[in-house]
Amino acid sequence: MARAWRVDVITTFPETFDGFLDVSLLGKARAAGIVEVQVHNLRTWADPPHRVTDDYAYGGGPGMVLKAEPIVAAVEDLRGPDSRVVLLTPQGQPLAQPTVSELAARRHVILICGRYEGVDERVRTLVVDEEISVGDYVLSGGEVAAMVVIDAAARLVPGVVGDAGSLVGESHAEGRLSHPQFTRPEEFRGLRAPAVLLSGHHARVERWRRAQALHRTKRRRPDLLERRALTDEERQAMDEFPASDS
Ligand code: ADE
Repeated sequence: MARAWRVDVITTFPETFDGFLDVSLLGKARAAGIVEVQVHNLRTWADPPHRVTDDYAYGGGPGMVLKAEPIVAAVEDLRGPDSRVVLLTPQGQPLAQPTVSELAARRHVILICGRYEGVDERVRTLVVDEEISVGDYVLSGGEVAAMVVIDAAARLVPGVVGDAGSLVGESHAEGRLSHPQFTRPEEFRGLRAPAVLLSGHHARVERWRRAQALHRTKRRRPDLLERRALTDEERQAMDEFPASDS
């Protein structure tokens, strides 16, 4: 079997990850040995007897700063030659699918969860390869952000999603949003599922889906389309099938 995708998480609140790791796709992937996630308490690397992981900020001000020594010690214990060390922080690069794919392709990822008012800057200088933010808002810590990274990347590890075809057209996979979806019943409260989806014409269904995905992206996230030119085929599909939700 191929080598597992390995993740080590360094956090002051390991219990945050309870439940998350055991359910759904990720729970199955871990049970199957395709993904391995170890959650470590930062206090393990802090000095006894009190094992303090944070301290007041030099220069004053409110809030506590995570100390450099335990985080650097943790990373030095856990990392190997193939490790990618990521700090979760609102100051990082905003997470998007290309970074998720890159992380999923690594053998080993170490996620450092920031807390309080921040992390001693020397952690960045000494051990961090990359800083990631999951959005322009402030969470109470990097734990939820680490879960976002693990969830999004694990889905891309070969074997985690049973039908790899289902990853192909999904939102952001090709720099656009996904198309609208319908399931039974055919009519619900006067709203009918589009006839083309019931037609059985596979190629037409695909063209309709591509057109709707592009219309939706153009309306909701025009910034995504600015990064890529539409092909002739895509333009033709959009002309043939106008937006279904206008
Ligand atoms: N920690 C606090 N807020 C965060 C964010 N938006 N992204 C990543 N880590 C964070």
